[in-house]
Amino acid sequence: MTSTDRIAPDLATVEERARARGLALGSPLVWMAEVSSTNDLAKRAARDRAPHGAIWVADSQTAGRGRQGRAWSSAPGENLLFSVLLRTPCPLARLPELCLVAGLAVRDAVARALGDGADSRVLVKWPNDVLVADGRADAQANASPRKIAGILVESTLTGAAVESLVVGIGINVHTLEFPSDLAERATSVARSGGAYPDRGALLLDVLEGLDRDVPRVAALGLGLVHDRLLRACALRGKALVAGELRGTCEGIDRDGKLLVRRDDGSLAKVSSGEVHLGTSAISRVT
Ligand code: BTN
Repeated sequence: MTSTDRIAPDLATVEERARARGLALGSPLVWMAEVSSTNDLAKRAARDRAPHGAIWVADSQTAGRGRQGRAWSSAPGENLLFSVLLRTPCPLARLPELCLVAGLAVRDAVARALGDGADSRVLVKWPNDVLVADGRADAQANASPRKIAGILVESTLTGAAVESLVVGIGINVHTLEFPSDLAERATSVARSGGAYPDRGALLLDVLEGLDRDVPRVAALGLGLVHDRLLRACALRGKALVAGELRGTCEGIDRDGKLLVRRDDGSLAKVSSGEVHLGTSAISRVT
């Protein structure tokens, strides 16, 4: 472990446990009490030739970033905030598929942390937000699934190949009370019923999923995980009203595009942008 601070106890053995599991990810591990953004540290280190699998973990970020220019905020020490550097050879055209696989790895780890019976409640909202549906059979059961984790993937390219990927992941683990603007939309492992959410175990499970699936998808495409992805798809079968596009989500194709059946019967393939079940814009539709 490389660090300027004394590492949080629940994360102290992650690096050696990652090695013991035979993972190519998780070492060297740099832990810091506070950083601007773990993605910024990882990108800087990538330029300085940090190796595949290196990871930056922080208890707090002063400038945590999300997708679409949003901020990512998290109470100090309560959650998992980390970025892992991947140098998996991959053509540029496959980058969207790797982003989806990162979402699946986080989904699977969160489902495991939530324990028995939670598997069907943990979903991926295309492209890679992880949501948890309420399991209660009362009036709350129809509430929208809440976001438990977000992923920001940033790449460095050489021509038409991906040279390095920084996969930045924020998972709400211990937070019970969210700021008022998030209160209706966010949840955490603890809030959603995870008995003793252990940040170290959760982090290791994410790394294991990435380690297993990223090289396979980079080499062979989404086919190997496509069924899992469809089973976890939070938008499938749901009506979407998104910018100019109205329709019903029919799933995700093998190139990672979201399939939306318009009300006039034609099929739209969404390749990037933000999709909401409410009113929002989809930036590019093919
Ligand atoms: C999103 O949902 O929009 C993505 C959120 C990604 C947040 C994580 S926290 C660790 C890493 N560092 C950052 O600045 N962002 C990512």
